[in-house]
Amino acid sequence: EKGTYPYYMLKEIDDQPAVMRRIVQEYTNTLGETIIDEKIIETITASDRIYIVACGTSYNAGWVGKALLEKMTNIPVEVHLSSEFGYNMPLLSEKPFFIFLSQSGETADSRQVLVQVNEQGFSSLTLTNVVGSTLSREADYTLLLHAGPEIAVASTKAYTAQIAVLAVLAKAVGDNKRNQFSLDFDIAHELSVIAAVIETIIDEKMLISQLVEEYLTTTRNAFYIGRGVDYYVSMEASLKLKEISYIQAEGFAAGELKHGTIALVEEGTPVFGIITDKKTAAHTRGNLKEVESRGAHNFVIALASLSKETDQFIIPDVHPLLTPLVSVVPTQLIAYFATLQRGYDVDKPRNLAKSVTVE
Ligand code: F6R
Repeated sequence: EKGTYPYYMLKEIDDQPAVMRRIVQEYTNTLGETIIDEKIIETITASDRIYIVACGTSYNAGWVGKALLEKMTNIPVEVHLSSEFGYNMPLLSEKPFFIFLSQSGETADSRQVLVQVNEQGFSSLTLTNVVGSTLSREADYTLLLHAGPEIAVASTKAYTAQIAVLAVLAKAVGDNKRNQFSLDFDIAHELSVIAAVIETIIDEKMLISQLVEEYLTTTRNAFYIGRGVDYYVSMEASLKLKEISYIQAEGFAAGELKHGTIALVEEGTPVFGIITDKKTAAHTRGNLKEVESRGAHNFVIALASLSKETDQFIIPDVHPLLTPLVSVVPTQLIAYFATLQRGYDVDKPRNLAKSVTVE
């Protein structure tokens, strides 16, 4: 129930700290060890490549999952769109392991891939929010997101829940492989920190609302840019913005802009830069300068330790691998307020359904 909230989306954004804590409760013990079915851990450990298959927001979460899994397990990970993968399957490795990400567990595009995976006898795991959903029943294994019902068409808490559960899974497999990075990673602690940081971000929603008024009320288009995980979040941020506010938005790899897209930047074009990665911060700042000199109205979302005084929104520092769990939150609120201010229905955007059961 949305209770006193004007829209489910705002409630679901607000639910995220509780969801992070619930995931810690469900998937870790008091010693800080992960609680995941041994068979899942052994099967992934024995695989030579992980294929993440998903659509939309779940696909965007998959890219962050790739970063986590590769770092902690040393197993190569590919991320694919279900609707492409099913009909143009790449050459597979010898021992593939499939991970399906699906909030609803009912997405037809993803299911048609799972049907083929089962026909070929490959192992599979579904991460889903819905107990007993089709993708859960038909995969070998299931991990639940424990996010509670997600009603708004625009997915928010399922995205962060998917990333958190993938982090737990990466840690479980990484520990099993005695990966030092994984052994040193205190997942329960880090996710608890994340929960508290998400709360502080949500507490600043009126600031975000004001900034959105300044940046997005009349614009036709907007860009999100970042590198690495900041690029992955840019893709999700722009999907959220376009699907509910109808502002044409795109997420780009910051370094790629100058290879073509920068031509679209005009006087006043909003460009959102996401900066949470020390390695690439200076480069992304350079790219922001380039667009600024062509008239862009820059909006920088930066991690505190990498921030500058002129940045519009600053996020407290969290573990470097988990920054998407916090950097995405202001972008969810940006999409929410842009939609509200433009007078559209936040929860029920035109032309969209909550679960997409046709291919
Ligand atoms: C966007 C959104 C969609 C879904 C996509 C996959 O906000 O909600 O892009 O993420 O349709 O749905 P699931 O995860 O249910 O397979």
